[in-house]
Amino acid sequence: MRDSTRRPWIVGVSGASGTPYAAAVLRALLAAGEDVDLVVSRAARLTLLDETGVAFRDAHAAEDLAAWLERGADGKPGTFPLEAADLARVRHWPAGDLAGGPSSGSYPAKGMLIVPASTAAVAGVALGLSKDLLQRAAGVTLKERRPLVVAVRETPLDGQTLRHLVTLDGDGAVVLPCAPAFYAGAAHLQDLVDFVAGRALDAVGVPHGLYRRWRGELGAARGEGGRRGRAGLS
Ligand SMILES: Cc1cc2nc3c(=O)[nH]c(=O)nc-3n(C[C@H](O)[C@H](O)[C@H](O)COP(=O)(O)O)c2cc1C
Repeated sequence: MRDSTRRPWIVGVSGASGTPYAAAVLRALLAAGEDVDLVVSRAARLTLLDETGVAFRDAHAAEDLAAWLERGADGKPGTFPLEAADLARVRHWPAGDLAGGPSSGSYPAKGMLIVPASTAAVAGVALGLSKDLLQRAAGVTLKERRPLVVAVRETPLDGQTLRHLVTLDGDGAVVLPCAPAFYAGAAHLQDLVDFVAGRALDAVGVPHGLYRRWRGELGAARGEGGRRGRAGLS
């Protein structure tokens, strides 16, 4: 897509546990034909390394992103091979680049998903701290009245974080706890991850086939089992 018509979703990955959620959201946005701007916080590099073995380097972002996104929730490489053309639709911005495109409301973004969102990111966005590009982009998303999804991952939650989440909800964000459900027929770890990623995409109206929707039939989840049994997913 030409630069003048490009309108990406911004995906902010902060340093909460749950980088497989971010990978699932990124893959699904690309599968839906969306462009993506990616901001990975400094702390998220630790969780990414811990959870996948991938060391995310600004100078090698394309290569490291490819190594990350091909991994399933169990960390196995080669699970989700991606086309180079899909990966080329991701633009990476270093988290320290406060002059990066997403720092301005005039940058033509569709909205933003923070997946996963640390309690520190929740606090920073709720208080308008803009301590890095991720927090600044989220604040910009709110002020421009664009959709913002905050996929918070912490348990239990302290009162301060709960108050910040109420603030974000009041400011128009969708607060989406990384809380997988079991009615969709999870048989694999990836199914639980995909459920949360799918609900995040539901919140911004991006079509996907990440989980089986509730159809009003009790017991349907046990009928077919996980994603392998679902039409349209292999
Ligand atoms: C391995 C690891 C796992 C973490 N998991 C969480 C978590 O699930 N939720 C959370 O809020 N913070 C978690 N943290 C702490 C955050 O990384 C820390 O608060 C950091 O300052 C967040 O910064 P950021 O919001 O700029 O990414 C974790 C840290 C590490 C090293």
